[in-house]
This record gives sequence, structure tokens and C-alpha cells, in this order.
Amino acid sequence: MNRSHAPAAIDISAPSSVLHLGVKEWVARIAALTKPERVYWCDGSQAEYDRLCEEMVQAGTLRKLNPALRPNSYLAWSDPTDVARMEDRTFICSELKEHAGPTNNWMPPAEMRGTLHHLFDGCMRGRTMYVVPFSMGPLGSHIAQIGIELTDSPYVAVSMKVMTRMTSKVWDILGRNGEFVPCIHSLGAPLGKGQKDVPWPCNKDQKYIVHFPETREIWSFGSGYGGNALLGKKCLALRIASAMGRQEMEAGGDGWLAEHMLILGVTSPEGKKSFVSAAFPSACGKTNFAMLVPPPAFAGWKVTTVGDDIAWIKPGKDGRLYAINPEAGFFGVAPGTSDKSNPNCMASLKANVIFTNVALTPEGDVWWEGMTDTPPAELLDWQGQPWTPETGKAEGRKAAHPNSRFTVPASQCPCIDPDWENPQGVPISAFIFGGRRSNTMPLVAEAFSWTDGVYMAATMGSETTAAATGKVGVVRRDPFAMIPFCGYNMADYFSHWLKLGKHLTHRPHIFCVNWFRTDANGKFIWPGFGDNMRVLKWIVDRCDGHAHAVETPIGWVPEFDDLEWKGLDGFSHEKFKAITAIHIEDWAAELFAHDELFNTLKFSLPRELALRRELLQLTLTS
Ligand code: GTP
Ligand code: SPV
Ligand code: MN
Repeated sequence: MNRSHAPAAIDISAPSSVLHLGVKEWVARIAALTKPERVYWCDGSQAEYDRLCEEMVQAGTLRKLNPALRPNSYLAWSDPTDVARMEDRTFICSELKEHAGPTNNWMPPAEMRGTLHHLFDGCMRGRTMYVVPFSMGPLGSHIAQIGIELTDSPYVAVSMKVMTRMTSKVWDILGRNGEFVPCIHSLGAPLGKGQKDVPWPCNKDQKYIVHFPETREIWSFGSGYGGNALLGKKCLALRIASAMGRQEMEAGGDGWLAEHMLILGVTSPEGKKSFVSAAFPSACGKTNFAMLVPPPAFAGWKVTTVGDDIAWIKPGKDGRLYAINPEAGFFGVAPGTSDKSNPNCMASLKANVIFTNVALTPEGDVWWEGMTDTPPAELLDWQGQPWTPETGKAEGRKAAHPNSRFTVPASQCPCIDPDWENPQGVPISAFIFGGRRSNTMPLVAEAFSWTDGVYMAATMGSETTAAATGKVGVVRRDPFAMIPFCGYNMADYFSHWLKLGKHLTHRPHIFCVNWFRTDANGKFIWPGFGDNMRVLKWIVDRCDGHAHAVETPIGWVPEFDDLEWKGLDGFSHEKFKAITAIHIEDWAAELFAHDELFNTLKFSLPRELALRRELLQLTLTS
């Protein structure tokens, strides 16, 4: 490191509650490398949050929304080049390439460390480095993990308060030598002397989101948006945690799962409660499903939310699987969210929200496509430009970015489950996997067995969405909705699921669903949203052993009369057929795509899955 570039000695002294020498040494080392103007140790308090938000209002990063309409809430507009996760800039740098596997970007760790050292040298000049202590999972739970994020973005610091348990109590839990996941984040936009800052600093040329699974480190450079920057979420709670869960089994333990799943509770009119966990790819309906409002015809049924994006799942002593939501907030997709599609979510958003990349109304409130049927007459769009329904239409310009999001405490959700912070987790009765497929995949099917369910999840495909940069609307294989989030070799991940299932005495049933089949005009046939309750009821009834189904080559499926149709007039047998029919031509193409995926993963693909594919091929064509 070039010491002559070091700033005048800055005060890096930690609060007295930090006893961990490793933490202090690490903070000093990263400060020496990144050369911030100052180091600030966050305590996670409300006063600190309010102060940082106010500073960002002054700096032009945040706009305070009208307190009468949206109390204590803010709006950020990002740089137009920094609007989503960047999968092509995400790396799993395990010692061996085979351990990252063919579906992850990889570079030799030593080479990547060299690149990062160069990028991070002086990258925080002129900025504050925030030290953010946080817990993923309830504080002190045996399932929780501690992380510390060093970031030069105050937007990230306040977002971490909402999304994680960010508190100085973490220092007590860590003590003198507790374990933590070091997370280092920089916008990659140092400020020269006297240089004026921009509202959303980032690095337009260089972006890296890097994970070292063996040393459990995260380094992120160049982006301030979502999963690229809030490192507790996808980086720690999915990529590093998935690798941890497997390492633990390889070391002779029970092992555990870190999944891209919502968790919900469903209570029947008789008072029987079950929990299910569902994996849908990004922007495919997890938040909506997690907060589902049953239609009026389902009087007495209740759905409660444990989590909307990530589940950590461990075998319990009783042979069941127990899940916790490691997060403390929702970072949800705004467009499409309305009082009609997700009233519980809208109610959660009444106050204390940070919105990013939605539109601003003249009254100082927010708007996005789908929030109301009629857009406001005038708005400022997500880039601060005047927008009217007419100009928007004429120029094909959306008021809110398709991946605009809200950040809000989960505790504000009116349907939050009473056990959502239970450190023991909740017992899982069913796993549900679903992609966005305009054809081929039926409304719902139940796997014949655990192995068959793993096959179903492993071969899942989905049409891509705006949640990541890249082409939108092409089908890609997204095993377990984990393609962007698995911290190790995907084929080994399949083996991990198979192994973990073998040790359970009460295996959850496994289902696949598809809300997205379209008609000849490209319109969704299934009403979705609250009406997904009709499918959810069949699923929990199947788990309890009292719902009828028929066998097909791909699994057990309901017949028309097996679903509850009360209150859904006009959903004909023909429509039902249109969303459930299994067309041989479609499935020939589907099996071809499974084969392509398995070929990519053939180096360590479990044999059960290859054999299951062959059996499926034979049963479908005979
Ligand atoms: P991430 O936060 O990106 O992981 O996504 P998510 O899976 O939580 O996505 P979310 O629930 O926010 O889904 C957003 C999109 O899915 C919006 O465009 C919704 O309108 C659409 N959506 C959700 N549920 C349904 C449904 O049942 N049917 C249809 N047709 N669309 C749905
Ligand atoms: C996703 O893309 O699946 C998200 C949003 O949940 S982000 O945190 O940006 O990855
Ligand atoms: Mn997600």
C-alpha cells in the first residue's frame, strides 16, 4: 500500500463496547486501504437513522416525503446505470473452480484479491466509512449469524437498519472472539478535495460483487443498489450461508439450507395451522404470496407472513425441518403492488419507508405503475423528469423503474406471523417451487417423492424479469430459484438437498406451481394473487392427506372438482384445462432443456436426477 497517499491520521477508535480485537484490527486495516475521511461506528438507533436520513436529504440523495401522507418516509433516485443486481459481475471465488461450479462466475482467489486490493486502495477518499454491526436472524438465536458491513454509503447504512437487526448489542454477542462475516462495500466513487458529490454516487465502469466461501468474506465495489450493496441479504444470507450449510454437513453435522424462499403460515377455519415455504425467482410473486389475502369465500382461513425472500432451514430433533426468516425488513418490488393485488403490503408501507426509483407526486407522495388504475395527471419520474400519462405512453417511458423497490420493517406488516421472530423457527409442511412460464408448466403438481421434488425444483425454468440486469422475458433454467444465489456448485447443492432429505423422518411434501400461463392474446389466464389461496388450500390439504389428486407423468395434480371454486364465477372447465394441460410437444422441448442443464452440471450431478429424467422421458412418450 502506498502510505504517502494515506490521509492525515483519522480516528478509528471503537466504542468501548467493542471488545473484539479481530474486529478492531480489521476495521483499521480496511480504513488504511480505503482511506476514508472518517470512520463512524453505527449503533443502529432510531436517532442515528433519523440523523443519517436528514444528512442525505441535505446532500440530495433522499427526498423527504410529505409527512401528512407518508410519515417518516423518503425517496431515493439512483443513477440510471445502477438499478438492479448485476449477475455478470457476481463472483464465487472458491479455491477450486469446480467448487463454484459451472453456473457461477469464478476467478482464482489470489488473482481476485489482487484486483480488489487495487480497486479498494483509496476508494473511500473524502467519504465516511460506516461500521455496521448486524445479525441475520433473531439476536442470539442458534440459527443466527453475525455480520459486519463496512460501507461508504449512508443509504446502505440506513437500509441495513431496516433489513437486518443492526444494533450495538452485536458487540456483546461477539465478545472477544466471536465469529462474524466481514462484508466490505464501497461505491467506488472517491471524492477529490473540494469535489462536489452527486446524489447517487457509484462507479459506472467497474462493478464487482465477490464472495470467498472458504474464508467467508464479501467484497462489493461500484454499486449502491439492493442486493449488490446491502450485503446481509443475497451475499451473506444466501451465497455465504448456502455454502456454510453444506460445509457443516460435510464436516459431519446435520447441515442446513439457505433458500430464496418466502415462509407463510396458513390457518384453517378449524384452527389447524401449517407453514409452507416457497421459492419463486426474483420478481415472480414471493412478497405477494407471503401476504396473501384469502378471497371472501374462504371465510375463516388466515394467511400470516414469516418472511418474503429468504429462509434458513434446519432439521430439528423431531425429524422435521424448521425455518427462520433471517431478515428484519422487506425490500420488495413496487410496480404492481396495489390495494387490490396486495393490501397487506400497501398497509405495511404507510410510514417509515425508504422508496427507491419510484415516481414522485406533486403532493410529495409516491406512485408506481399498477398502484392505481388511473395514473396521477402529473409526476416526476424515477429520474426526476416531468411525466404525464400522455407523454409516458407516447415515449414508452415508465414513471417508476420496473425494479423500483421499497425498504420497510417487517414488523409493520398487518399479517406478520406471531412466530416470525421465534428463534426456533417454524415447522415446514410443504415446499413450493414456481417460475414464470407462459406455457408447459401446470397450475400445480405434487412430486411423487422427495427425490422427485428435488428434480422438479432442480429443473425449474422461468422467464427473466427486471430484478436483474440483462434480457427480460426469456426462459432460463433457475434451479430452486437459486441460480444467482447459490454460493457453491449447483450440482453439489442438489446432492445436499437429497442427503438432507434422507435424514428427515417428516419430509415436507414438494409441489410446483405456475400462476403465469397465458392465452392466445398473451393475457394471464389464472387470476392469481388472493385466488392463489385455492391452490394453497389444496396443497395443505394434500399434506394432511385429505385432498384428491390424479397421477400424471409429472406428478399428482388436482382435477377441476378438487379445487374450491366458490366466489370465482366464470372460471370454466376450459380455462382450467388451459392452465393444467400437459402438452407432449411442450414437454419434449422442456425435457431437452433439462438435459442441457444436466449436461452443464454433469461433473457432479447426482445420478438420481439423471435417472429421474430418463423415467420422465419414457413415461411421457410411451
Ligand atoms: P424479489 O423481491 O425480486 O425476490 O421478488 P418477489 O418474488 O418477492 O416478487 P414480488 O412478489 O414482488 O412480485 C412482483 C411481480 O409479480 C409483480 O409484477 C406482480 O404483479 C407479479 N405477481 C405476483 N403475484 C402474482 C400472481 O399471482 N399472478 C400474476 N399474474 N402476477 C403476480
Ligand atoms: C432479488 O432480486 O431476488 C431481490 C432483490 O430480492 S435484491 O436484494 O436486489 O437482490
Ligand atoms: Mn429475492
